[in-house]
Amino acid sequence: MKKRILVIDDDAVACEFLQEALRLDGYDVTTYTSAQEALEQDLSSYDLLMSDIRMPKMDGLQFLGEVQKQWPDLPVILMTAYGSLETTMEAISLGAWDYISKPFSPEDCRTIVKKVLDVRELREKRMKLQPEITEEPKLIGSSALMVDFYKQIARIADASASVLIEGESGTGKELTARSLHSMSSRRDKPFVVVHCGAIPDNLLESELFGYEKGSFTGASHQHTGLLESAEGGTVFLDEITEMSTALQGKFLRFMQNGEVRRIGSHEVHHVAVRVLAAANKNIDEEVNNGHFRLDLLYRFIVRLRVPPLREHKEDIPLLIESLLKKFGYPNVRISVEAMELLISYDWPGNVREMENILQQTLLLSPFAVILPENLPTRFQQQEESVKSDTDVTGDLSPLEIAEREKILQTLQATLWNQSKAAQILDIDRKTLRLKIRRYGLVNEKNP
Ligand SMILES: Nc1ncnc2c1ncn2[C@@H]1O[C@H](COP(=O)(O)OP(=O)(O)OP(=O)(O)O)[C@@H](O)[C@H]1O
Ligand SMILES: [Mg+2]
Repeated sequence: MKKRILVIDDDAVACEFLQEALRLDGYDVTTYTSAQEALEQDLSSYDLLMSDIRMPKMDGLQFLGEVQKQWPDLPVILMTAYGSLETTMEAISLGAWDYISKPFSPEDCRTIVKKVLDVRELREKRMKLQPEITEEPKLIGSSALMVDFYKQIARIADASASVLIEGESGTGKELTARSLHSMSSRRDKPFVVVHCGAIPDNLLESELFGYEKGSFTGASHQHTGLLESAEGGTVFLDEITEMSTALQGKFLRFMQNGEVRRIGSHEVHHVAVRVLAAANKNIDEEVNNGHFRLDLLYRFIVRLRVPPLREHKEDIPLLIESLLKKFGYPNVRISVEAMELLISYDWPGNVREMENILQQTLLLSPFAVILPENLPTRFQQQEESVKSDTDVTGDLSPLEIAEREKILQTLQATLWNQSKAAQILDIDRKTLRLKIRRYGLVNEKNP
């Protein structure tokens, strides 16, 4: 079925122009020259509204307010006179899905319409469906630091050496363990995760080693432990520092000889599993204060450190892009200002915090573009300080500000590949270099 678009502009010529442009793309377009007239209709049968902002009697912002009251799910694109950035921001913060500056080409108009309709469709699909099962999650990042990290993973993936994965919370320790497993020849065998921090110690022992029927109250049947069930594969002990030192001792013996004896049994089983473990506490400190056994620490042949996000901030745009895709919003864009805030933030909770923030922001803002004000308040608080040290836009005209944004966004999207960016921007490289200097743009990755 054809998508229905309603266009409102007090300029009849502009209405005609839009009608022509959109009909070419197969939309069914109706036009009105006044917002009031349009509001007398039932607008629920439309898929998208486009309205001019400056109109006599009822302007586009008032119209937007009315539409939001009566048809809150209906996307609205506002059209603004060229350069009026403030109105644009106001429009977006009032709930417009997107905006387009006049004058625009038929092509610009079709692109923005398609984008907003795509986002709307996705949003509806998401409401009906559970998120689709996607492919196996992968570590994302193309910074020198992450590439170095992948090399380390690749070098040790197929060895059977035990690995202790260290890193702050949310840096991707579990994801690293999964990568080590899936890149090894054990990939078709089990990958068993044991959350040491979540299970009381006595239970943890019986979960790991298993037990015989009647070996303790409540042991009503024989139970195979996790170590045995991982035979041939990998066991991943998450938060290994949460194990009691007594259990650490038992686990150490298992690592030395691969022997598993179920609780209440004399029989010994040999189990061949690779041991991976993760710690988000400083393990050397844990050893010093007697919470972690040094002999167990020495059993880990390799210690792998997952870098915190603030050490590879240049991966932030890429991570955000892939998380937006993962959450089902591949068409949502982050505005330049919002991206600057996201990049300058320190991310104490690393990628996990980023996932939370994006999910929260996507839930609360219906826009095709995420602006600074859509981000949680802690980002807004740092806005002031960011502005003061990156504010080179003071003397620029609105047109130049818009150009600066466009160039920065393109550079970020191409990871500062200047020839690619110049090609996308349709200018020559020399001009691009001049503009980079003029607008004071810097590559975070390689300042
Ligand atoms: N480099 C990365 N690329 C893509 N996704 C990542 C990356 N690092 C972490 N994630 C995602 O962030 C979330 C947290 O990662 P993970 O559970 O592996 O971290 P962790 O270090 O085990 O955290 P915690 O210490 O909180 O358990 C997961 O959803 C994971 O998919
Ligand atoms: Mg974890």
